[in-house]
Amino acid sequence: MKKIRRIGILTAGGDCPGLNAVIRAVAKTAINDYDIDVVGFLDGYQGMVENKFINITSDVVSGILTRGGTILGTNNRIDPFRVPMLENGKTIYRDLSDQVLNNIDKLGLDVLVSIGGDGTLTVSGKMIARGVNIISIPKTIDNDLFGTDLTFGFDSAMATATEAIDKIHTTAQSHHRAMIVEVMGRTAGWLALGSGIAGGGDITLIPEIPFDIEYVCEAIKERTYAGKYFSILVVGEGAKPKGGDVVVQRTVAGSAEATRLGGVGNVIAEMIEDKIQVETRVTVLGHLVRGGIPTPTDRLLATRYGVEAVKLVARREFGKMVALKGQDIISVPIEDVAGKTRIIPLDSSWINTAKSIGMCLGDKM
Ligand code: F6P
Repeated sequence: MKKIRRIGILTAGGDCPGLNAVIRAVAKTAINDYDIDVVGFLDGYQGMVENKFINITSDVVSGILTRGGTILGTNNRIDPFRVPMLENGKTIYRDLSDQVLNNIDKLGLDVLVSIGGDGTLTVSGKMIARGVNIISIPKTIDNDLFGTDLTFGFDSAMATATEAIDKIHTTAQSHHRAMIVEVMGRTAGWLALGSGIAGGGDITLIPEIPFDIEYVCEAIKERTYAGKYFSILVVGEGAKPKGGDVVVQRTVAGSAEATRLGGVGNVIAEMIEDKIQVETRVTVLGHLVRGGIPTPTDRLLATRYGVEAVKLVARREFGKMVALKGQDIISVPIEDVAGKTRIIPLDSSWINTAKSIGMCLGDKM
């Protein structure tokens, strides 16, 4: 069997804490255990299209374990099968996958390790169909990837969101206000519900449970009757009213996931002030939760994922994504997970836990 000599690695999609920890783990394992060279593409698939890369040596990955972001840069707009280009003042889309395959050949890459979320997995699926050997590693602060119990980046984002909610408490209390903290997470409520429970939110609105503003206002009033003159609402950016729709902030042309959500917090604030005249303020955490150093949990998970990814490479088990199942690192076929989203099941222990502690989820208690 031909020995694996050289692998490529890239980080694609939105960044998150822990990306550097994975790059480090992949490089150390490949170089130390298997004598495999590692090449890092810059800015996700853009680097593959334009053949922009660096050689990743032990020196390059030294000291990056705790650093947020990604030393390789990333991009959540470029799908090599559909690259937007401006021609005669008009945006047209071109399939540049042949260029990517040429670059893989020129560099003599045996395998590509792609670190990313669902957009990245979708592109990986299309590249596998063109004959590229791929191993994927699941990252996202949204924790919404099918086939794994946990993505790295989520724990760090939850820690930042929880700290923000903790800090909002005191000003909410001083001013007797309703305070809304809007968090990212797209169409999954993991980040909102996780930080809502951990931060002691009174009301948490998630995409999985369309909310009724009457129940939200009722919950705020009940707190007032109980002598608690402030309320903390944690709202996932993908939350929507019953029978209504999500609030879209922008559409990003060419992106594998074009819709960017945001702004539902302000919509809810207006509804509350209008209905029950409780002064309400909104804090949108936005990209803040994607920054900072990774938590120990994320560093550990990212490192375990990176090491397992290289083991799959060495065993030539291509077309797989590493994943967490309970306490174990396993792998699943990319074709079984690409294009699928993992939202919070309505009968999950997270939702039952929230209900048991009296948290309002925007529906009938
Ligand atoms: O998928 C990660 C994420 O941070 C989502 O939670 C959010 O909706 C989106 O990316 C934001 O994307 P951008 O960085 O393009 O604004």
